Amino acid sequence: MVSTILLAVGLVAGWMVYSYISGLRRNVQIARKTGLPYVVYAVHPHSFPWQLTFWIWLPLIKLLPKAWWEKPMIVLQPDWAYNTNQEYFDWVGSETFILAGPDDITLFTENPDLVTQMCLRREAFPKDIARYGVLTMFGQNVVSTEGAIWRMHRKVTSSSFNEKNAAHTFVEAIGQTKGMLQYYFNGTTENKTSTKTIKSLEHDTMMWALNIIGHVGFGLRLIWPGQKVPDDPKLAKYGALDPPPGYTMTFAESLGGLLHRIITILLVPNVILKILPFHFAREAAAAKENYYRYMKEFLHDKVEQVRRGDREQEGMDIMGQLVRSTYEEKAAKSNTPKLTDDEIISNAFIMTLAGHETTANILHFTLIELANNPASQRRLQKDVDALFGDSDPSTWDYEKNVNPLLASQIGACINETMRMMPPVTAIPKIVSPTSDQAITYEGRRIVLPAGLSINMVAPAIHRNPRWWPTKPSERTGRPTDLDEWIPERWYRATAKSSNGSDAAEDGEDYGGFQGSDTSASLYRPVRGSFVPFSDGPRSCLGRRIAVVELIAALGVIFQKYSVELAVDEWATDEEVKGMSAEERRALYAKAREKSRATVGKASAIITLKFNGSGQYVPVRLVKRGSERFVGDQELV
Ligand code: HEM
Ligand SMILES: *[C@@H]1O[C@H](CO)[C@@H](O)[C@H](O)[C@H]1NC(C)=O
Ligand SMILES: *[C@@H]1O[C@H](CO)[C@@H](O)[C@H](O)[C@H]1NC(C)=O
Ligand SMILES: *[C@@H]1O[C@H](CO)[C@@H](O)[C@H](O)[C@H]1NC(C)=O
Ligand SMILES: *[C@@H]1O[C@H](CO)[C@@H](O)[C@H](O)[C@H]1NC(C)=O
Repeated sequence: MVSTILLAVGLVAGWMVYSYISGLRRNVQIARKTGLPYVVYAVHPHSFPWQLTFWIWLPLIKLLPKAWWEKPMIVLQPDWAYNTNQEYFDWVGSETFILAGPDDITLFTENPDLVTQMCLRREAFPKDIARYGVLTMFGQNVVSTEGAIWRMHRKVTSSSFNEKNAAHTFVEAIGQTKGMLQYYFNGTTENKTSTKTIKSLEHDTMMWALNIIGHVGFGLRLIWPGQKVPDDPKLAKYGALDPPPGYTMTFAESLGGLLHRIITILLVPNVILKILPFHFAREAAAAKENYYRYMKEFLHDKVEQVRRGDREQEGMDIMGQLVRSTYEEKAAKSNTPKLTDDEIISNAFIMTLAGHETTANILHFTLIELANNPASQRRLQKDVDALFGDSDPSTWDYEKNVNPLLASQIGACINETMRMMPPVTAIPKIVSPTSDQAITYEGRRIVLPAGLSINMVAPAIHRNPRWWPTKPSERTGRPTDLDEWIPERWYRATAKSSNGSDAAEDGEDYGGFQGSDTSASLYRPVRGSFVPFSDGPRSCLGRRIAVVELIAALGVIFQKYSVELAVDEWATDEEVKGMSAEERRALYAKAREKSRATVGKASAIITLKFNGSGQYVPVRLVKRGSERFVGDQELV
């Protein structure tokens, strides 16, 4: 008996050792055959066992002499791409390399030419949809599918993304930004010169973005604390600040809880979550249940509306589009493939998710960086003044102002935040599983094996000194200034030779905004070196919507206000009042140093943010002219 068990254990152990070694050998051979530089790891950073247990090993490895692990370890850490920027690529000595481990092999790149080829050749380099499991908890959707199924999802979802709805978004974003300001100033902005210290900017910008997409995307009326709940009882259900009858969470809470616990919810079935003796598990289960129920009822109401033939709905009406594609009489009769109810809910969920976290993070980080960089803030205010003067934002015309706004310091700041803190830090692709694919790389032809994983590392791509104009940093003395937030870099003239091709592979229209974001005089990065929205047929459907929300918010805020770092940690308001200019400058420098350190610690759980770990940068909104630090007195 004992010997049988020993034999079995021995066989399993032997098999594990064998498959480990043969897996490693096979992957090293594959890597070598490509002719690209490669590194070999005893464990692949994307492997499931490592992702689950890295936090045990990392501290142990760090007990060894630093020279052994310092550089090789970078790639094993979560968020290395954002936290260490060029360091790992520099150490490998190549903009593209393959990482081979026993159970996985991945090509990492920060080379714009390769990025462009891979983004544009959709069939040769499809999305690695196996990595999108977290996004399919309700069913398949436009983000999580490929091939013919993706086309169906994309066709149904993309028709709402047009300029008419962008204009509608501009108006709603102005209204929601005003709502946020009212909220910060406790109901009235009149006669108040400053808010209290705001510690919840991440949360509040999320709410801002959710309220906008909720309205323009779905016709919901979501509101700020203190605002009046809408009269329409159907809409009131989603906007309510307390859970409506039958629910245990508000709509916003259920969505927030879902996103916060998304990994748990995905890994553990709800029936188990509900009986686990942990508060977070029950909360996760409740969030999912509440959200699903809201969406089911929403779907039900829409189906009724479509059956009545009622098309009255302003805005994008994403739910209406989805429902009509399946339920409208014409669609119901034809035998083209249709979305199921759960796929409709899944697409609505993904639009809500994709449509708010990303945009919120950009607004959040832009506000912080403008507080860190008062001179850039003053330049932004000058541009807003020149465009709008004192006019009431509700009179601002979208068509007239959109291009000037994009060409102003507002556009430059948005671009610079997306360069430094791209919400989507890794764009995963895969070499078509059905055949090897040739690419041109640095003038050579390279053949990549079918099925190879690809990881395009956005933060590294965006700070690659070979492709971005740069100069030695004035602030840190480093050889480049690409790790600093400097919106003014976007005013540079564009270098003549950019080597990317400009045409999509098949010239087909996949929906979404096609136009240019620019005025010709501004900097245009080499194609493939700036990909916050990815590129090609699978690029972001909501790019225009996102940018329109952001320009509206920055315009409204900075027309009347400045944003300053709060300094409560070091000095009371009374103490600040009594300070000399010199003392204030030193104090602000301290706050700024801490702010920069905090921003540097952001991490990517779905999108790049301060991961709910209690990290925040405290700020205040101050009426222009009443600044304590960043005003015209050129203190900082
Ligand atoms: C600053 C804000 C945003 C950023 C940085 C961003 C970034 C991205 C990126 C990088 C992708 C490609 C993802 C991949 O390849 O895995 C993507 C896809 C997508 N985004 Fe966005 N996004 C933003 C805002 C939005 C908004 C506001 C919406 C909707 C209202 C939206 C809807 C989508 C959709 C539907 C896709 C999938 C497209 C497809 O695969 O066909 N995004 N986004
Ligand atoms: C603001 O100040 C003006 C003039 O001092 C006054 O007439 C007005 O009532 C004040 N508004 C509020 C809301 O306090
Ligand atoms: C933002 O980036 C785009 C390139 O993607 C560029 O065309 C545009 O000019 C930039 N905006 C500004 C204000 O520089
Ligand atoms: C563009 O490609 C040519 C050759 O194909 C090369 O000589 C040149 O250096 C490239 N330009 C840049 C900016 O790298
Ligand atoms: C969030 O970030 C903080 C600071 O970098 C880190 O200590 C913490 O482990 C992170 N939390 C998660 C869940 O990743």
